[in-house]
Amino acid sequence: MNGEELANVTAWTAYGTRHLERATAVAEVDRLTWGFWPTGPGVEVLGDVTGRRVLDLGSGLGKYAAYLAREHGALVDAVDVSTTQHQRATARYGSQPGLNLILGDAVEHLRQCEQYDVIYSIHGFAYVDPWRLLPALAAALAPGGRLVFSVLHTNSDGVGPSTTVAARPEILPLAGGGQLTVEMWVC
Ligand SMILES: C[S@@+](CC[C@H](N)C(=O)[O-])C[C@H]1O[C@@H](n2cnc3c(N)ncnc32)[C@H](O)[C@@H]1O
Repeated sequence: MNGEELANVTAWTAYGTRHLERATAVAEVDRLTWGFWPTGPGVEVLGDVTGRRVLDLGSGLGKYAAYLAREHGALVDAVDVSTTQHQRATARYGSQPGLNLILGDAVEHLRQCEQYDVIYSIHGFAYVDPWRLLPALAAALAPGGRLVFSVLHTNSDGVGPSTTVAARPEILPLAGGGQLTVEMWVC
């Protein structure tokens, strides 16, 4: 990982720590939500995931991965690099059949995994350098497989995508107040 990615690991670990300290209650989901509100397409954009190998990249708490395993019979690997996000996920979904929660860098995982039928990411890609991520993704997707993801397009200040492939600082608000800076590829 490069310096920007390592800064993101630090930020997302602090983010998870804050939620562990506050014992934040997060409601169960009954659909995929690609944006910030429960609108737009749901699970259908992934195709039929029943019995298929699926990867959730940057899975956080793991609520969407758990939903796909629980409600749709998918065999989901969910990878996240933050130790505290992983801790929250295993505490909540560690015994969910069909769900494998993995702690680690997504790119390292993609480089050594068996190929997936479906890879998706909900607001995870922008924290990983695309020069590292995209080749690893291409190799990890089975022929005919499906890649679906959502990323930030315009930030809360109304700033749209960058015109170059470079990370830029963005704000990550913390539960209960305060904020962290993350480095995001919004391009
Ligand atoms: C905006 S959160 C999205 C979480 C989840 N997809 C959701 O929608 O609830 C981004 C997640 O990406 C993870 N992440 C950032 N860099 C990563 C990397 N290199 N490998 C794996 N996960 C990473 C963070 O730890 C964080 O949990």
